[in-house]
Parts: sequence; C-alpha cells; structure tokens
Amino acid sequence: MSTSKLWGGRFKEGVTDVAAAYTESVSFDQAMYRQDIAGSIAHARMMARQGVISREEADALCLGLESVREEIESGGFVWRRDHEDVHMNIESRLTELVGEIGKKLHTGRSRNDQVALDFRLFVSDRSRVWQDRAIGLVKTLAGRAQENTATLMPGFTHMQPAQPVSLAQHLLAYAVMFRRDVERLKDADRRIRVSPLGAAALAGAAYPFDPASVAAELEMTGVFANSMDAVSDRDFVLEALFAASVVMMHLSRLCEDIILWATPAFGFIRLPDAYSTGSSIMPQKKNPDVAELMRGKTGRVYGALMALLATMKGLPMAYNRDLQEDKEAFLDADRTVSSSLEVMAGMMAELVFVPERMRLALRRGFLNATELADYLVGKGLPFREAHHITGQAVALAEERKLALEDLPLEALQGLCPRIDREVYGALDFDQAVARRGISGGTAPDAVGRQLAELRAWLAKAGG
Ligand code: ARG
Repeated sequence: MSTSKLWGGRFKEGVTDVAAAYTESVSFDQAMYRQDIAGSIAHARMMARQGVISREEADALCLGLESVREEIESGGFVWRRDHEDVHMNIESRLTELVGEIGKKLHTGRSRNDQVALDFRLFVSDRSRVWQDRAIGLVKTLAGRAQENTATLMPGFTHMQPAQPVSLAQHLLAYAVMFRRDVERLKDADRRIRVSPLGAAALAGAAYPFDPASVAAELEMTGVFANSMDAVSDRDFVLEALFAASVVMMHLSRLCEDIILWATPAFGFIRLPDAYSTGSSIMPQKKNPDVAELMRGKTGRVYGALMALLATMKGLPMAYNRDLQEDKEAFLDADRTVSSSLEVMAGMMAELVFVPERMRLALRRGFLNATELADYLVGKGLPFREAHHITGQAVALAEERKLALEDLPLEALQGLCPRIDREVYGALDFDQAVARRGISGGTAPDAVGRQLAELRAWLAKAGG
C-alpha cells in the first residue's frame, strides 16, 4: 500500500500494488518528458505574464524544469512508479529541486489538459519524423526511377501480364503514394497542434490565463474551442494513426511486389544480402524476410487505429481514464512506421534489378497484343474486329510457341490481308511504351516530367 500520492489529500489508504501497476503510465509516457517540460515552461511563463505568479517564481520554475530535463537526459533521473505518470514524476522532482514554489506550477491546470497538450506535441513531433523518412523514401524511389526510364517490364492487371511499362513508371507509382502520405500528415499536423491548455479539468481555468500566448510559444496553430472537447478529444491521435496505417498499406504493397519479383518465377530482382535471410534447412533459399515482416507489421498499425477507435466510441464527456490507452497503441505504431520507412529506403537503394528477366517476361506474355489491335484500327478496322483478329494472332503464336513479333508476315496476313511489314514496328515494346506520352503515362518523356515534378516537390519538402 502507498499513500504518498500528490493527489492523496482525501485518501486514507493507498492503492494495492496490483492496482498501482495496473494504472501507472510512467513506464511508457516518460517518452514524452520533453513535451511535458516544454508545456510546463510555457504555462509558468504565461502565468507570470498574466500576474498569476511572480516573474521570480516563474524563473525559478523554468530553471528547475530545465534541470529536471538535464537529469533525465543524462540518465540520472529516477522514474518512480508510485508517482504514476510522467507529469507527477517531473513535478515532484521539480519541487524537490526548487522547494515550495514547485507546488505553484499546477495552478489552473489539470493533468487532463496537461496530458492532452503533451501528447499533441509528441504526436506532432513523431509525425514529422515519419514525414522526413517518407521524404527520404520518395527521394530513393525517384533516384532508382531515374536510372530505369528505359528499362521495360510487364505491367499487370488481375496479376496477368497486361501492357509494357517502364520500371521507372512502376517505381514512381510508389513515389507518388508516399508523397501523398507526407501531404496527408502535414494536413493533419494543423489539427494536431491545437493547444488544449487552459481547459483545465474540463470546465476551463478560473484564472486570467492567455492560452493563445502559450500556443504561440509552443509553435501551435491555435487554441481549443471548447474546454470539454479539449480534454476528451483524441481525433488527433486517430488521424495520425490513420495516416500511419495508409503509409504501412503503401509499404506493404511495395513489399508484396518485392516478394513476387524475388521469386524464381519472376526473377525481376535480386535481394541484397543485407535484406534477406537463408533457411535453416534448405540451403538454396534466400528469403525476403524483411519485406514479409513489414507486410506483417502493417496489421499491427491497423490494430492500433482500431483499438483507439474502439476505446473512444463509448466515452461519455469529458476526460475518462480510458484515454490513457491512446499512448501504448501510438508508441507501438510509431516504432513500426518510423523503422519501416527507414528500412524500406535502405532496401530500395540496394535492390538489384534484372532487366533481362523483365524483357523475357514481356515477350512471353504477349504484352504487345494491344499494339497489334491499335495497328489494325489504324488500318481502318473497327476496334471490335481488330480485337478479334489480334486474339487469333495470339492463339496462333501460342500454338507455334512464338512471340507475336516472331510470327512471319504471311501468317499474320493470313489473319488479315491489310497487315504489312510496318506491323513489326507497331509490335516493338519500346515504341509501345513511347506512344504513352500522355501526362502521367509511361513514355520516357512523360516519366521525365513526373520526375521533374517530384524533384521540385522534394526541393520544397526539404528532401
Ligand atoms: N496518465 C494519464 C493519461 O494518460 C494522465 C491524466 C490523468 N488524469 C486523471 N484525471 N487521472 O490520460
């Protein structure tokens, strides 16, 4: 039993050790000590400006808080579970250091608005790390795309070979997904960085506070609109977790491509040794474990989003302790998304592409069939008829175990007398790709424009 709580005034008995272990959060919320101290410093300074405490008192509090931060960063700070959370650990150490004045820090403030402020700053800081890493990945993908604007490969629909595309086009599809992710996180950041300080427990502080000046000092975008919402809202965590889930979904799709491409059946890439593992029983194997794990970990991040949505749905106004559950879910998702983005950038930088295998797959998959149909349309045939004749040409090539472009002219003319020697130019893969010059298309010049746009974005985004 313990009775040494900062809130223990009306309590005769402490909670049992089991209950204390069950309710404590300091083992994980100490991660946001920097944000807690920054918030407290801003609160103390604002109180001095508003005449709620004296300048000297505010100076002593700020100096004390800085010392606590140094203690934490030098590893000398002792985190006490009986002080429950990061807030009370820091405040009680502050009071040990500066004496009675320390007890003034919490004037007009509740842990309810304090934790909401700390966590908003923390979520925003972490989401900026994700943004930086996503920008790094976009840069890597753009670099690999640049090297491969003329590397052709099959593009798929329904997992069936469909039309030739450049490898650059395929890689840029992912680059623009991660660019969108960065934009999504930036947009959410405006709502994450709204200060709840001044909402106090739920009804608003009864002191002449100036919440806007606290928000400005902490580089936030605004202040709470309603005190009850301010202490009970966790939309900001949900938005970050949703954005993280989308990042992971994009990463997982890329992993799926990597896993397929590394199979002997595809053979489009060779996995770098640093990103694959062997089998303990089958000596020939090189497994794409890193990509598989990333695909697997995606589920954990979705889990965090689902867990918090479920936690929120039954909460009455205003603060309820259930809200403490936001932190572990977020911390786990943060570890996953930040490490995944970093690992993927490393893996993409080192992947070895095998263009010969991509070419071979093009020829075997009749990926120039659409070109033949378009060629026939050019000769005046209605598209439906052109489609039908092309189907017959594919069947003939299949029967003779040849690629379309290897069928002799007479054989093609047997299907349609209007076909002439120019058909071989139409069937050429490079020409097929070059015809897709539409903005956002796979032709080298269209890919060049996509790359230029991406580079301009990267320059602005700090990549
Ligand atoms: N650890 C708590 C949380 O994360 C801090 C706020 C506690 N507030 C309270 N009224 N018990 O939500």
